[in-house]
Amino acid sequence: MDYPQFRKLEGAPNLYAIEGPKHVTEWQPLGTGKWVVHQHYASDYPRYQWVTELLQGDEPVCTLTVEGWHRLLNEREVVSEETAPGRIPGAPVQASWKDEAAVGPLTTFGATAHAHCLAEVATDAEVRWALQDRAALPLMVLGGGSNVLMHRDWKGRMLHMNIRGVQKIADDGNAIEVVVGAGDSWHDWVMHALDEGWNGLENLALIPGSVGASPMQNIGAYGVEVKDRFAWLEAIHRETGALERFDAERCAFGYRDSVFKQAEKDKWVIVRVAFRLDRSAPLNTQYGAIQTELESRGWDRGTTHRQVAEAVMAIRQSKLPDPSEVGNAGSFFKNPVVSQAVFERIQSDHPEVAHYPAPGGKVKLAAGWLIDRAGWKGYRRGTCGVHDRQALVLVNYGGATGAEVWALALDIMEDVEAKYGVRLEPEVNQVGL
Ligand code: EPU
Repeated sequence: MDYPQFRKLEGAPNLYAIEGPKHVTEWQPLGTGKWVVHQHYASDYPRYQWVTELLQGDEPVCTLTVEGWHRLLNEREVVSEETAPGRIPGAPVQASWKDEAAVGPLTTFGATAHAHCLAEVATDAEVRWALQDRAALPLMVLGGGSNVLMHRDWKGRMLHMNIRGVQKIADDGNAIEVVVGAGDSWHDWVMHALDEGWNGLENLALIPGSVGASPMQNIGAYGVEVKDRFAWLEAIHRETGALERFDAERCAFGYRDSVFKQAEKDKWVIVRVAFRLDRSAPLNTQYGAIQTELESRGWDRGTTHRQVAEAVMAIRQSKLPDPSEVGNAGSFFKNPVVSQAVFERIQSDHPEVAHYPAPGGKVKLAAGWLIDRAGWKGYRRGTCGVHDRQALVLVNYGGATGAEVWALALDIMEDVEAKYGVRLEPEVNQVGL
């Protein structure tokens, strides 16, 4: 673990925590008894060079141990802190491992499984501790557990993300930038934002899961995706401990996709996410079902952001099973994106096939429609089945194992492929398959 590293200026009280190759936190003295904290992001050459020089630790800089750094830090009181949920470099670690922990209840699917050891982490320092401790064991990060199916026990370390908190960092009277801990519940955050009048996420109400998982698969619903309101995220590198920022470009967002599912898969732990919201955000009500729902409630004139959220919640509740009642992980499959030629072939046999335009002249088919028309909607096989109001969702009626759910998923995939010539792909992460 190369980060964080602690430095001090010779002959001056300033303290530095180098959090990664491009990120330094500085404690600057104010009067005799106080610190002001600054975050420095090295986004260009001179500042990048400055971090490199601090790292080298040559005069006029000296290297401190974490204990030495804490001793000096505690001599003064922090009065202003440009900080964010969980970001206290070198904070004392209170987390510990729980051996042979049941992790089924931490997932919304609820398939029975254990982790060899499990730790809840609530700060960056605890994340780094968990990354270094028992390092010979493989590591898995669990957020809200709403997008995983456990196929068997996890024979390694499981880190349950619990960094929480909401902090506004910019506000020009209309636009707001807010940082949210990766361990906060997505839906609670959306509701909190609406309470504050920070708008733009209302169409994403009631999506199960955590804030930290939201950019990973670029969650989306009713015409809005997380990328539309994403500002940046911070993540800790699993091997070096470096804290780095990812802007939207570096995240490479796609349909239920990001760099964290591709080139950077399993390399980072997302610790917080910043959003750009807007008091006067335009309303997204063009998605058919929303408009109908608003009209049925007489809310189609002077509609508020809160009303859009309530319409979305009502639609979701009418179609999707509540994970607290019946285990599920939302859409089990992605909507397949096919070429125009494949689409035309399917449409000639099935003129009513549900579809949407996709980037690059391609066509996105509704997997729910394909599964439904193939006859699987409401099908039940022992402990698991296909939801009776939304064929895209597989459900655990109680006691289902990952293997049982997967056997059903494979049968559906094979049947849809045989009938329509399209191979479905799971959207839910399969652990231990
Ligand atoms: N359809 C059927 N039968 C079904 C389900 C759907 O015929 O059992 C048809 C519908 O009539 C409609 C089309 O398929 O014409 C699309 O259905 P819907 O609008 O319900 O959306 P979806 O494509 O099934 C996607 C997301 C959902 C998201 C909704 C709303 C994916 C994989 N799923 O579902 O996301 O809530 O749109 O925007 O992209 C999730 O990711 O977990 C999730 C629930």
